[in-house]
Amino acid sequence: MILRRAVVLLGVLLSVSSLYAAQHREVTWSRDVAPIVYRHCSVCHNVGQPVPFVLLTYQDVSRRASQIARVVATRYMPPWKPIAGYGHFIGEKSLSAAEISVISRWVANGSPEGDPRDAPAPPQPPSEWQLGAPDAVLRLPEPAPVSADGPDIYRCFVIPTSFGRDRYVRAFEFKPGAAGVLHHALLFVDAQRAELPSQYDCFGTPGFLPTAGLGGWTPGMHAVSMPAGTAIHIANGARIVLQLHFHPTGKAEAADPALALYFAPGPPPRALMDIALGSNHIDIPPGDASYKVRDEFEIPVPVEVTGIIPHAHYLCKDMKGWAILPDGHKRWLLWIKDWDFNWQEQYRYTQPFTLPAGTRVFMEFTYDNSAANIRNPNQPPQRVSWGAGSTDEMAGLHIQVIPRNAADMHELGMAEWGKFMRSVGGRFYTPPPKPE
Ligand code: HEC
Repeated sequence: MILRRAVVLLGVLLSVSSLYAAQHREVTWSRDVAPIVYRHCSVCHNVGQPVPFVLLTYQDVSRRASQIARVVATRYMPPWKPIAGYGHFIGEKSLSAAEISVISRWVANGSPEGDPRDAPAPPQPPSEWQLGAPDAVLRLPEPAPVSADGPDIYRCFVIPTSFGRDRYVRAFEFKPGAAGVLHHALLFVDAQRAELPSQYDCFGTPGFLPTAGLGGWTPGMHAVSMPAGTAIHIANGARIVLQLHFHPTGKAEAADPALALYFAPGPPPRALMDIALGSNHIDIPPGDASYKVRDEFEIPVPVEVTGIIPHAHYLCKDMKGWAILPDGHKRWLLWIKDWDFNWQEQYRYTQPFTLPAGTRVFMEFTYDNSAANIRNPNQPPQRVSWGAGSTDEMAGLHIQVIPRNAADMHELGMAEWGKFMRSVGGRFYTPPPKPE
């Protein structure tokens, strides 16, 4: 007994001392820093991505050591908006405090290389499709030219499909193409075949009412699989609209993105639905640094929450989403304190969770229309109202849910319809004439 305790104690002492040694020995690129950079930086700072430089070798990184120490300490890099602890998402990119400390100690000690044999191999830009051979690959009819400089370009491209029958997308992967000009992409399904030119300028919305959103892409993103048992319906003959955001790089380029689709064998057993919180009653006075948009909705049936998609333009700063369960317990869905239109992402929870019937979900977005907001597109500030243009504002928080019981789909759909009608009611509803 005593012997066993002594052995355990010795083991504890040894592991504590090796941890101590690891924290106090010299930090090198090869042993300590390269694994962090390869895991958290090189996915974007790689060939063919919209980044100012690659971070793949000791030279790439040591040359910019002090700048790198600064951007990781301020958490400017890796770009990741949700505040930790207010929902856990797939692809979370933030560094831990320990990783930041390794980088800052390495830079403070003159960024030594150490023994190159200790370094892992730098990651290659992915060449193959991550989920294997796709069922279909969609491309632009021809690469889109992007000029060397000028303002950012937001453009929609309409791609016809001819799959011969209805299809159900269970996964997709988007590749930005060789050029580093593409900053982000949103993918929509148009089954109504709205009257659209083959390409056109579009900013906040795709310019028509999509039948479905397929998802989005931001640099560093991997292939996306829909939540188990769900798929996105693409009716026979529907079109896919790619909304692309280009950021000129200083040299003329041609963007040649590709969208790989993976089909489910047939209609999915479970339905992915969108609970849309938000408002189009937005009217922000110039100079107002803390304008709020709020909305809420009571979910009438039990649902599983799988993801969340926030949307606003440049004035929005702070985005909060939360749920109040029927027992009064509060559960955070998302909190972003420093919203950046350039990093809009579609967040998927690592662990989908259930909200019981009678849960109320809330959103509160805060907008800064003062001159102090460096992202304010109007200097001096102007009155800003709802609209899809880059100097207008929007407010949307889309909670992606799957009704626990397929039979509840209709009830949820009706409740959402009622909410929508109440929100537009003020505009379209004329009260009946008073009885004589
Ligand atoms: C999700 C993609 C992505 C990841 C991951 C990422 N970066 Fe970046 N990085 C960018 C983009 C895009 C830019 C250029 C635009 C900008 O500054 O926002 C950039 C710019 C930078 C800059 C220049 C900043 C400036 O002030 O000009 C540095 C330095 C940098 N990144 C370092 C890093 C380091 C170190 C990591 C890993 C800890 C990292 N990045 C991870 C996408 C990424």
